[in-house]
Amino acid sequence: MITTPSSPAATVDPMTMRRTMGRFATGVAVITTSTAGTPHGMTVNSLTSVSLEPPLLLVCLTIGARTTDAIVEGGRFAVNILSARQEQLALRFARRGEDHFAGLDVTTGGHRVPVIPDAFAHLECDVERHFVAGDHVVVFGHVINVCEREGEPLAFLGGRFADLVDRASEPVHWFF
Ligand SMILES: Cc1cc2nc3c(=O)[nH]c(=O)nc-3n(C[C@H](O)[C@H](O)[C@H](O)COP(=O)(O)O)c2cc1C
Repeated sequence: MITTPSSPAATVDPMTMRRTMGRFATGVAVITTSTAGTPHGMTVNSLTSVSLEPPLLLVCLTIGARTTDAIVEGGRFAVNILSARQEQLALRFARRGEDHFAGLDVTTGGHRVPVIPDAFAHLECDVERHFVAGDHVVVFGHVINVCEREGEPLAFLGGRFADLVDRASEPVHWFF
């Protein structure tokens, strides 16, 4: 069981931190895993790509969430990137303490973790490493398997869900 370490005096209050970082638009994903046959999942927007070779990503999970403990114990998880039509799923998996999977149709991925059908994409991962940072656990995932679908992603900005309207620029050239 991971507990929150003591921290130095805060200089920026949590609501200011949340509001300001909320100006950074993100996608929305549900992280899923299972331990002893029980599925767990939570909505996240702290997902970041870390490395291409090897394929690594990270996600920051709040200490004390059931899904956080299940991932640290089980050592594997799936990232289900939500589509623009899956706002209700994002809300379902953000309600603390509820049975997020009640009445939900999930399948088991090739890496033996639950995956949400119709997600915009999913990535199945082994936990590569994890460490505590403040009130969250930073979990690095080594991506084992991916699945992509056509569609539009769900976006999150300023505490609201949003569609990405059809205003895409020309493809950005990668400089790194
Ligand atoms: C759009 C959105 C993004 C979220 N992002 C995160 C996140 O990156 N990390 C996190 O720990 N909780 C995040 N949350 C809150 C969790 O989804 C919520 O606390 C969850 O119910 C906890 O899971 P549990 O039921 O397994 O405890 C987010 C919620 C929403 C609505």
